[in-house]
Amino acid sequence: MAIKKESFGRNPYGEEVDVFTLTNANGLRVRIMTHGATLVSLEVPDRNGKLKDIVLGFETAAEYGPGTPYFGCAVGRFANRIANGRFSLDGKDYQLALNGDGVHALHGGDRGFDKRIWTAEVLEEEKGVRMSYFSPDGEENYPGNLTVTITYTLTDANELKIDYTATTDQATPINLTNHSYFNLAGHDAGAHGAQTMMINADAFVPTDGTGNPLGGFRSVEGTPMDFRTSVAIEQRINDDYDQLQQGSNPGYDHTYCLNKKKAGELSFAARAEDPDSGRVMEVYTTEPGVQFYAGNFLDGTSKGKDGCHYAWRGGFCLETQHYPDSPNRPQFPNTILHPGETFRSQTVHKFSSN
Ligand code: GLA
Repeated sequence: MAIKKESFGRNPYGEEVDVFTLTNANGLRVRIMTHGATLVSLEVPDRNGKLKDIVLGFETAAEYGPGTPYFGCAVGRFANRIANGRFSLDGKDYQLALNGDGVHALHGGDRGFDKRIWTAEVLEEEKGVRMSYFSPDGEENYPGNLTVTITYTLTDANELKIDYTATTDQATPINLTNHSYFNLAGHDAGAHGAQTMMINADAFVPTDGTGNPLGGFRSVEGTPMDFRTSVAIEQRINDDYDQLQQGSNPGYDHTYCLNKKKAGELSFAARAEDPDSGRVMEVYTTEPGVQFYAGNFLDGTSKGKDGCHYAWRGGFCLETQHYPDSPNRPQFPNTILHPGETFRSQTVHKFSSN
């Protein structure tokens, strides 16, 4: 496998961006850029071997700016919401930017990890690229100097592995994910509704109309949130169910609590399939949750790669992560990283066809 490095122009802040291409023995190809450690494209074969790019994105680095839908990027320091942008740690109160609908902190703030330049290192032997980012104490009002690495590896078994590490010199909340939007029929194929989804979770985190947890968990049993067996995404997404009929852009946008035998084990999280092309993606993770977001905020205004406009629900995300607002919810799995500890997390996307 060859790893190719090219210039990808400048980001919206005028900084130079590089893009790395990894290709495996079966022709799968993934491109990752240093702006936001972002997955720019991911070409995967269908049942006839025909490659298609199955992640949404822009043509140039310059288009990945504020106000865009977080296409393919790394999200941090804290993915998802922190209620009212507030948390307390070691007796100190912190106020974050309210960049999520004006009420909550969302995805790391005004200029989170998705809008920063990462330092890339090619790992010839492991066949991957390691992206590193140093987030100084006080950046986006988070405490502690945090060093983060994200390693992308493409295996000949058609797996894209994403490994995260982080260390800090002060206690800080941390929740890292990748925000790729998938459409297994191709990034420009339009609504993904006929594609099927399966999520290995008996419960999810119910939220109010602003994405803030109501408190506690809710069983998926007997609700349109139940994806324990494969079902077309569109089949129940518009059902008259409180969790699907709230907020400005209703539909699936929820954290599922993954069934695990042991906390932190790498286990099966989700499986999506496009019945037409036969493309299948399975997701495995060490994280306790996965945010299944159906692309309800996409509205045709984002002009993406190949000149296409991304339709409403034209891509779905499976963001492996901890639960929203964890720093304020002692009953949720811990998201506080302390000095001397190393945060580690892994997510694997496995591609095949039927
Ligand atoms: C996440 C959130 C969504 C939305 C998108 C970005 O998936 O859960 O509500 O903010 O990111 O548009």
